[in-house]
Amino acid sequence: MDAESTQIDTDLLKKHLVEVAEHEAELTDHVYQSLFAKRPDAVELFGTYSRANQQKMTAETLGAVLNMLDQEHWLGEYVHAMGLRHQFSYETPTDMYAPYAEAMLEALAAVSGSAWTPELERAWKAALDRVNEMMTAAYVQTSH
Ligand code: HEM
Repeated sequence: MDAESTQIDTDLLKKHLVEVAEHEAELTDHVYQSLFAKRPDAVELFGTYSRANQQKMTAETLGAVLNMLDQEHWLGEYVHAMGLRHQFSYETPTDMYAPYAEAMLEALAAVSGSAWTPELERAWKAALDRVNEMMTAAYVQTSH
């Protein structure tokens, strides 16, 4: 949770996050296009009218990154609860998190255009990987 320990450029990432958050709908379109191309088996996990949930998922992912950078103490429990919902309500396998982070990165690059840099890509990747780790750490072992 210590952003400095793995050298995420907090200022750079926050500034960019605020900018991309203005393009959330476009970001969501890119994320799911890219995720479903990588993992066609993810399509069936989402309901027919899941656009609102997809939008919420994008927003919550950005929110989790922001709150992580701000070292909000409650974030761990909050993400933990989302992780459990993903395991038990949405039946999301843990191996879908890496393709989701990749899809997010591609979407962020697409909406950023020429503002996208290798530094931003590194910072985003580190942050998204960490949120993914928090999500999947919540998963509990089951016998089936
Ligand atoms: C950083 C990782 C993720 C975050 C923060 C996140 C967050 C969310 C949120 C906030 C929702 C809306 C409902 C709720 O509040 O529980 C949601 C729904 C959902 N998420 Fe995620 N999610 C993540 C990763 C994933 C991945 C990797 C998958 C699978 C590819 C996935 C599949 C789903 C599904 C199937 C739903 C329900 C959609 C529906 O009912 O149509 N999520 N997610």
